[in-house]
Amino acid sequence: MGSWTIKFVPTQDGSNTLYSKEYNQHYHSCKDGALNESLLKHIIPALSYHQGKKQIAILDICFGLGYNTLATLYYIKKHNLDIKIDIYSPELDLDLIQSLEHFAYPKEFQEFTNVIEALSQNFYYEDEKLKIEIFQGDAREYIQKLKRKIDIVYQDPFSSEVNQMLWTVEYFHDIEKLLHSDGIITTYSIATPVRLSMAQNGLNIYEIRQSKNKKSTIAIKEKTNDPKYTYIDMELKKQRNPKAKALYDKGE
Ligand SMILES: C[S@@+](CC[C@H](N)C(=O)[O-])C[C@H]1O[C@@H](n2cnc3c(N)ncnc32)[C@H](O)[C@@H]1O
Repeated sequence: MGSWTIKFVPTQDGSNTLYSKEYNQHYHSCKDGALNESLLKHIIPALSYHQGKKQIAILDICFGLGYNTLATLYYIKKHNLDIKIDIYSPELDLDLIQSLEHFAYPKEFQEFTNVIEALSQNFYYEDEKLKIEIFQGDAREYIQKLKRKIDIVYQDPFSSEVNQMLWTVEYFHDIEKLLHSDGIITTYSIATPVRLSMAQNGLNIYEIRQSKNKKSTIAIKEKTNDPKYTYIDMELKKQRNPKAKALYDKGE
């Protein structure tokens, strides 16, 4: 049995999330709203970056309540995008996945009830435009075994303070190897140690501002001059703050 409690926590935009006792953290930012956070920090940046592509492979780290996967489907449907999507998602908590068919999702996900039921019961869904595979196990193991190149990584584990193994230099080394040359990582984290862990693997770090107080990070292999993104010079950050350190599996 997982450590989650089926006590839905309503967030700012009206969509529900959960609280994890084990990690002492909510699954989403209550202030931003679960659905809003997913759309603004992951789905919109990633799908606009790959605008025009007809086929996209997504690694959704970690499945949790599945907001990132479901909001991807919602966004594609809402914008009538002609696109084929494969989603791969590791998740440790088997009980949580099996409970999802009873979760009180926002109305935006209502049309995906059949997808939610299939995932909850079989950890798998497929139709002509969409394939979703949930892997029950450790994300670190999974990314070493995954045998296909990825266009988008939704980097959405619990924070590095409570789940450091999914934010280290070694972790992002494996993620970087999976990314296509035009691949993108999206994450809510704006922490310097997290950004350094990605930059250490040759990834370029950019900040996105959703509003005055809301920011998130994307990491890409290529450089971009797109004014939507603000380049963060991590070498300069290190010079200015010599105490700033990347995260490693075994600490420093
Ligand atoms: C912040 S929640 C994910 C939220 C999710 N993206 C969503 O939209 O609902 C983090 C999830 O990571 C899972 N988890 C923690 N450590 C993991 C690991 N090493 N491998 C796979 N899943 C893990 C937890 O069980 C939890 O469901």
